Amino acid sequence: MDNPSRDFSITEWLPLRELAADKDIIFGASARYNQVISDEQFAALFAQECSVLVPEWELKWSAGDYQLRPSPNEFDFSAADTMLDFAQTHNLQFRGHALVWHESLPQWFQQVVNHQNAEKVMKHHIETVMGHYRGRMHSWDVVNEAIDYDPIASQRADRLRQTPWLQFLGPDYIDLAFRIAARADPDALLVYNDFGVDYNTAMDKAKRRAVLGLLKRLKTKGTPVHALGIQAHLHGDSLDFDPKSLRQFLKDVAALDLKILITEMDVNDSQLPRDIQRRDRIVAGVYEDYLSVVLDEPAVIAVITWGLSDRYTYLSEFHPRSDHQPVRPLPMDTNLQPKLAWNALARAFQQTRKR
Ligand code: XIL
Repeated sequence: MDNPSRDFSITEWLPLRELAADKDIIFGASARYNQVISDEQFAALFAQECSVLVPEWELKWSAGDYQLRPSPNEFDFSAADTMLDFAQTHNLQFRGHALVWHESLPQWFQQVVNHQNAEKVMKHHIETVMGHYRGRMHSWDVVNEAIDYDPIASQRADRLRQTPWLQFLGPDYIDLAFRIAARADPDALLVYNDFGVDYNTAMDKAKRRAVLGLLKRLKTKGTPVHALGIQAHLHGDSLDFDPKSLRQFLKDVAALDLKILITEMDVNDSQLPRDIQRRDRIVAGVYEDYLSVVLDEPAVIAVITWGLSDRYTYLSEFHPRSDHQPVRPLPMDTNLQPKLAWNALARAFQQTRKR
């Protein structure tokens, strides 16, 4: 895992957005409203390093401090609108996440939505939200995490996750969501987004097969899905990374005439040694090893991290370290300084070929 002599030197210190753009790749990150509006230092760094902004919470139905959908008949775009203004002011593209998901649903959803009205509710949400931002979006995660990671939970040959959407609308809800989205904003790149396809474990290999199966079925039906979003929530302690099988998966997806976006990249260091220098080296090695494989696929057009700085990462809450040390999963540290992971991203962009 750790090679103390591994070289992470770079030949040219330019912002990641520029190094990526030089190869026709978009680099960016997710962020929350308060991070880009209230933390001036972070906002400046974000604008310097990124060329796309993804609201971590503000375009979900209900997440963190924000209610995009306070009630069945209400939409509150105020937070996302302010983030779009920030993006446009700093020449950033804007990416929407996520229109149809089984998580981040508002309290009222369970009481209100049923077999009879589910299609109307989904259609109303997609049309209203995408209509509000029509023509101003790089891409939308139309459907998020529809394939279950746990084969037992799904109890279906197609591994579709048992979500309210599947329960009320059946397996064609995914095709329906994309068809509504394509009409709502014909200019947006429409993405199916999921996780757990990165490693050569039995679970990840099974998930890859199920995701590929879904994408093949959608393409056969003529569903207007344009890209696969691979979340890439990686693990610093994994010993199951197999470049060959990952590369083949990317080839198989690209062969469906789909683009590929890396949409939520970070490297979980919660199981790594306490020593910061060792941890940062291992994390950087994971970033570079993964991206050197992924960027070899010309269909990969974007690399987006889930957060830009360790100052703001959801892993602090979701995967804290047992030694209570701050986690260090992202390219910039809590003082907004570049880490070896930053070098790894820079090297991967410098070493890959132009799209
Ligand atoms: C996470 C956010 O980062 C958390 O703040 C929130 O509490 C839960 O959702 N996959 C996704 C993202 O598609 O939307 C999730 O984001 C992380 C996993």
